Amino acid sequence: MSETKPDSISWLSRDVVSILDFSRSELEYLFDAATWMKRRLREGSVPRLLGGKVIALAFFEPSTRTRLSFETAAKRLGAETIGFTGEEAISVAKGENLADTIRMLDGYADAIVIRHRYEGAALYAAEVAEHPVINAGDGKQHHPTQAMLDLFTVKELFGAIDGLVYGVLGDLRYGRAASSFILALTLFKPRRVYLVSPPLLRARDEVLEKLREAGISYEETESLEEVLGELDVLYVTRIQRERFPDPSEYEKVKGSYRVTRRLLEERAKPELKVMHPLPRVDEISFDVDDTRYAAYFLQARNGVPVRMALLALIFGAWR
Ligand code: NCD
Repeated sequence: MSETKPDSISWLSRDVVSILDFSRSELEYLFDAATWMKRRLREGSVPRLLGGKVIALAFFEPSTRTRLSFETAAKRLGAETIGFTGEEAISVAKGENLADTIRMLDGYADAIVIRHRYEGAALYAAEVAEHPVINAGDGKQHHPTQAMLDLFTVKELFGAIDGLVYGVLGDLRYGRAASSFILALTLFKPRRVYLVSPPLLRARDEVLEKLREAGISYEETESLEEVLGELDVLYVTRIQRERFPDPSEYEKVKGSYRVTRRLLEERAKPELKVMHPLPRVDEISFDVDDTRYAAYFLQARNGVPVRMALLALIFGAWR
């Protein structure tokens, strides 16, 4: 439907629930806007494209980067933000339901960014709210704006997203950043995708199904060592301890993989870039940080221009 409209129009007032709501050309348009934002940030010449807007940041779950980068993005463009982090601070602690909280925010703000521990919470909020709703992570399911900044970072580093060999390492079962990154790759033409995880943390069927539908060559493996030498991008993720239904399952897999400087120097191509949505626990050792492989801090910084671009497009303030 949206493919037939120019991208500037199709972005207008959009909800952002899943990365698969968007076409390749819409994402490329977003990346153009993000590149523009990044240049303006560097020059210190960001126009107040969102002056007078209020953006609600409804973080029912903890967040550092996502919340602060949305807040920075909104403020850089001249918008105001309201919001909360954690349910203790708001009336949910008094028994208020999600729909009522969303309706209230919808009455105060021009857009709502929501993070919630339940899958489907953002979609539900989008149905309840009249203003655009942006999913900043719903349970283990989706984290579309993370995938947007991840792909933007790949494009910036390699000049293209197509044609590369990707490894996605870690908790592919409960990790929403990993799932959204894999789903995002189905909109492009990666050469090959390796899904590297302990058997307990394999990617969910609905995600694998999308890879198959897109005709992408992929392989599931437990061994990073075996595939590392082929990779252009290694996307590392944290084991999502808080999402395990059974703590003893977590005990079985914790600490089961670790990317070290030595491993990279022995096995990786010199051009390999290591990405991570952060926060990391122990899956990337600190000695990787000052190598040419490390791209995760650049990736985190790109959260601001990409979210600026996203907000500007949704409000029709950039074309
Ligand atoms: C991720 C998240 O919250 O899903 N972090 C983020 O948004 N940058 C990944 C994680 O928590 O491991």
